[in-house]
Amino acid sequence: MNAGQTRPDHHHVVAVTGGGSGIGLAVAEYLLGAGHKVVLLDRNVEALDAQVERLREGTDQVTGVGCDVSDSGSVGAAFDAVHARHGRLDGLVNSAGVAVMNHSGRIEDVSDQAWATALAVNLTGTFLCCRMAVPLMEASGGGSIVNVASTAALVAEPGLEAYTAAKGGVVALTRSLAVSCAQRQVRVNAVCPGLIRTPMLHQVDQAFWDQMKAATPLEVPGPEGIVGLVAYLLDESSSYMTGSALVIDGGFSAH
Ligand SMILES: NC(=O)c1ccc[n+]([C@@H]2O[C@H](COP(=O)([O-])OP(=O)(O)OC[C@H]3O[C@@H](n4cnc5c(N)ncnc54)[C@H](O)[C@@H]3O)[C@@H](O)[C@H]2O)c1
Repeated sequence: MNAGQTRPDHHHVVAVTGGGSGIGLAVAEYLLGAGHKVVLLDRNVEALDAQVERLREGTDQVTGVGCDVSDSGSVGAAFDAVHARHGRLDGLVNSAGVAVMNHSGRIEDVSDQAWATALAVNLTGTFLCCRMAVPLMEASGGGSIVNVASTAALVAEPGLEAYTAAKGGVVALTRSLAVSCAQRQVRVNAVCPGLIRTPMLHQVDQAFWDQMKAATPLEVPGPEGIVGLVAYLLDESSSYMTGSALVIDGGFSAH
């Protein structure tokens, strides 16, 4: 998964945060199908355990680690567990996230807690996982990180102030780490999905969903609509790409 090297004799180890649901889970299934070893990290241990149990019916290459990405101690312990089990790390997908909506769209209604949660999970969580992953990847000969941002990072919608700021931060962090980690053979890219049908939809208003859907020229897919792009960014075929933020939104931001 790093630039310029091929290691046909070993399987890549990829950690996927938010792996218990939605995009993270779909990415994990895709990577398992491609023969990689996958560690799912998620705060929702019940959902995580159920998914790992289901996936283990088809492969023994998957494990789950309970982890709150917004807590540095929890993230440290989770990546220590990945290292203890596999002794290496080649890929990281930061998909853990929460959509925090301000239903009135008025800034004075954004609570301290809503602001803090949106930043803590979406932005700080991404930072904390990258901070643990980069040295492990460097010691493995290099690696690739894919941060799941959002079109919200690029195109604003009312009622998503904190989420928009956090996802904008994820794209900026991606560029910063791409530059600072290149010499360590670690690439860092972001994807910016538009609307994707996942359980996260329950966190947003029906009116918001309808409005986004109406503004999306292509049919809104499930998470399978984005896994190919994430897998490409993890793969050596994207070895000259780092610091990119790739939009995948069915044309939503094209007009
Ligand atoms: N679904 C969309 O339309 C859409 C669009 C753009 C971006 N995204 C982004 O995609 C990513 C994945 O979202 P999804 O749609 O798959 O949602 P989802 O709710 O199905 O999955 C998110 C997962 O993250 C986990 N999670 C939440 N907080 C966590 C924490 N603190 N620590 C560890 N795990 C935590 C949840 O338990 C859940 O399993 C998110 O970052 C989201 O912002 C989603």
